Amino acid sequence: MSSQHAGSPLRIGILGAGNIARLHSVGWNEFPENAHIAAYSDVDTVRAKFMSDTHTGGTAKTYDSIDAIVADPEIDVIDICLPHHLHVDAVLKAAQAGKAILCEKPLCTNLSDAAKIRETIASTGVIFMGAHNNLFTPSLLEARRLLSGGFIGKPFMYRTIEVFQSRGFDPWSKEASTTGGGQRGWRADLRTSGGGELLDTGYHSTYRLLSLASGDRPVEVTGFLSRFLQSHLPTEDTGHVFVRFESGAVGEILTSWALDVVGARQFEIEGEFGALAGSATSLSHQLYRWPEPSTRSYPAPATFTLEIGHFIEVVKNGATNAAPIDDTIRTLQLIKAAYLSAKLGATVSLPEDPAGIPVPRETAVVTPYSVDVPDEVLG
Ligand SMILES: NC(=O)c1ccc[n+]([C@@H]2O[C@H](COP(=O)([O-])OP(=O)(O)OC[C@H]3O[C@@H](n4cnc5c(N)ncnc54)[C@H](O)[C@@H]3O)[C@@H](O)[C@H]2O)c1
Repeated sequence: MSSQHAGSPLRIGILGAGNIARLHSVGWNEFPENAHIAAYSDVDTVRAKFMSDTHTGGTAKTYDSIDAIVADPEIDVIDICLPHHLHVDAVLKAAQAGKAILCEKPLCTNLSDAAKIRETIASTGVIFMGAHNNLFTPSLLEARRLLSGGFIGKPFMYRTIEVFQSRGFDPWSKEASTTGGGQRGWRADLRTSGGGELLDTGYHSTYRLLSLASGDRPVEVTGFLSRFLQSHLPTEDTGHVFVRFESGAVGEILTSWALDVVGARQFEIEGEFGALAGSATSLSHQLYRWPEPSTRSYPAPATFTLEIGHFIEVVKNGATNAAPIDDTIRTLQLIKAAYLSAKLGATVSLPEDPAGIPVPRETAVVTPYSVDVPDEVLG
């Protein structure tokens, strides 16, 4: 696949011409020698035309459906920016048409569709990457380098955070949209969103957690869901998720449309010798006896542009894919486990296969850090 695309610029078809397609368009346009936007497709053809005019001076073709854009032989890459319930159809059709695929989060809305997607990606041999844009935040990349270099010793816990308060003003409201107006449009309808905040914005904090714990498999999940503020939503606006990894390390995810955190922190890692904490623009590193952390600052990253630059490298030059299919399926599985746990009020187990359905836990996993609680401390 990569040799097929090594020479000329990739021809990009953007499927869905809404909010995030705008940021993807800006990203693609940063790499004029390696990619150009050849088409937009949206059921709202006015929007597709607007995007073509704004980002390509009207040169990109416009279509009105998934089928029409994937049938265009002059497109190499399908960039999926659709509401969640349409991702599976779009990925399957793009793969069957032999296109390389960049797909917005979540991969899809259930694990059986995820397994079908994995099978089709494997049988067609197309390149697929999840649009996990926050993986490209420099502070996260540096934290991962420090972790793998052993700078804080064995990691004991990871905490990831992805929050913003959305109150009154709704940046994604589409009053005149064919996807349905009102607050959050399709996001407020489970048939189109597939879930609440945890499946949507929570996808970022979940893949961030998995990337920090890279190589350590999540085995147990406990989820708490709340609707603190967004009463119009059919399900949660906030998720707290606890994860036990195979090594015994513990993960905590906080994700919300109801609150913000001081300092816009996105992650913390506590280990044997020290700790790391990062936001989008800073990384602090502190060994436990240091009086002060050492802090490095970064300019605000354009994560969509970084993600697209990486995807181009994957397609054209065979670079290692930062968000391959199994990583995005594992992200979905962990979120599904948290939903099941919240429903049951119990901890659930994650099968080894990322597409395996989470099940209620029968016995607690024993890890090197497990504690056998003495009876004396009970009661
Ligand atoms: N990575 C991030 O930070 C981030 C942020 C926002 C959204 N997203 C993701 O991007 C995706 C799109 O979200 P959005 O905010 O851009 O939504 P949006 O509602 O702004 O845009 C979706 C577009 O899809 C179009 N559409 C609907 N049905 C269609 C069909 N059958 N064929 C073609 N077009 C169709 C709609 O008309 C609309 O223009 C979602 O998966 C969402 O989770 C990611």
